[in-house]
Amino acid sequence: MGDEWTIGRLLEWTTDYLKQHGSESPRLEAEVLLAHARGCKRIELYTSFVDPASEELRTRFRDLVRRRGEGMPVAYLVGHREFFSLDFRVTSDVLIPRPETEFLVMAVLDHIKANLAAAESIAVADVGTGSGIVAIAVVRQSPKAQVTAIDISPAALAVATDNAERLQVSARIDLVESDLFAGVPPDRSFDIIASNPPYVSTSEMTALPREVKAYEPELALAAGPTGTAVIERLIPQAAERLRPGGSLLLEISPMLQQRVESLIRAEERLILGTTIKDLANLPRIVQARRT
Ligand SMILES: C[S@@+](CC[C@H](N)C(=O)[O-])C[C@H]1O[C@@H](n2cnc3c(N)ncnc32)[C@H](O)[C@@H]1O
Repeated sequence: MGDEWTIGRLLEWTTDYLKQHGSESPRLEAEVLLAHARGCKRIELYTSFVDPASEELRTRFRDLVRRRGEGMPVAYLVGHREFFSLDFRVTSDVLIPRPETEFLVMAVLDHIKANLAAAESIAVADVGTGSGIVAIAVVRQSPKAQVTAIDISPAALAVATDNAERLQVSARIDLVESDLFAGVPPDRSFDIIASNPPYVSTSEMTALPREVKAYEPELALAAGPTGTAVIERLIPQAAERLRPGGSLLLEISPMLQQRVESLIRAEERLILGTTIKDLANLPRIVQARRT
C-alpha cells in the first residue's frame, strides 16, 4: 500500500479483496474491521473518507483483513457482536450470536407477559448459555426475571460472566457449570426453560462453511448422528424441572422440527405448542407447556 492511502481508498480496496475471498457482505465487513483498527465508530468513517491512513493504522488493518480473508469470522476479530441491541463480548470459546436467537428471547418475554405478569419473581433457566446472550437479554428486558445460566464449558462461562458484569446484570444471573441440569441444585425449579442447544448432525458438521467449522466451538454445534443428542436428554430433564404450567422454549434447526416435536409429544408431562417461525418463515422455536 503506497503513501496515498486514504480511509475511502482503503475501504474500496478491502471491499474488493473480501469479495474475492468469498465474503457475502464485503463492504460492511471492511467498515467494521477498519473502524475497529482505528478505534472509532463505523459511522465516523463516513466523514473521514479523504483522511490519510497512517502506516500504523494500515499495518493493524492489514493484519485483520488477512485473517478475515483466511476465514476468521469478523466477530472474533473485533471481539464483540450486537444482539438484542446490546453489545456482547465474544471469543472463540463461544458461539457467535445469531439473529435467529432473538426469536428465543422474544418467546421468553412473550411467555412472561402472557402468563407471569402478576408473578413477583420469575425463575428462568438458559441451558447452554454460551456468551450469555439469552440470559442477559431476558433480565435486561424483564425486571422480575432471575436466570440460572448453565453451560458445560468453563471457558464459555467466563465470557458469560464478563458480559453479565459489563451489562450490569450479575446480581440476577446465576452462572452454573453443568451438564444440562445435573449440577443445578435439585430443589431448583423454573417457570421457563429456554435453550439454544447444539443441534448440528454429524453429516451436517462436515458440510458447514469453513468459517463456522474451523473457528466456532464444536461443543456449541455438534449433537450426534441426528442432531438431537442434546435435545433428547434435555426434554425429560426440562419436564422434571419445570413448574406446573411452565414453558420449555427450544431453538432448533428447521430440519429437526418433526423429530423434536415428536420427542415432546412422547414426553407425557409436556404439551406441545405452536412452533414459532423466524424471519425467513422457517420453523425455529419449539414451544411446550408443563402439565
Ligand atoms: C448453540 S450454543 C448456544 C450459545 C448461546 N446460548 C447462543 O445462543 O449464542 C450451545 C451452548 O451449549 C453448551 N453445551 C453443549 N453441551 C452442553 C451440555 N451437555 N450441558 C450444558 N451446556 C452444553 C455449549 O458449550 C454452548 O455454549
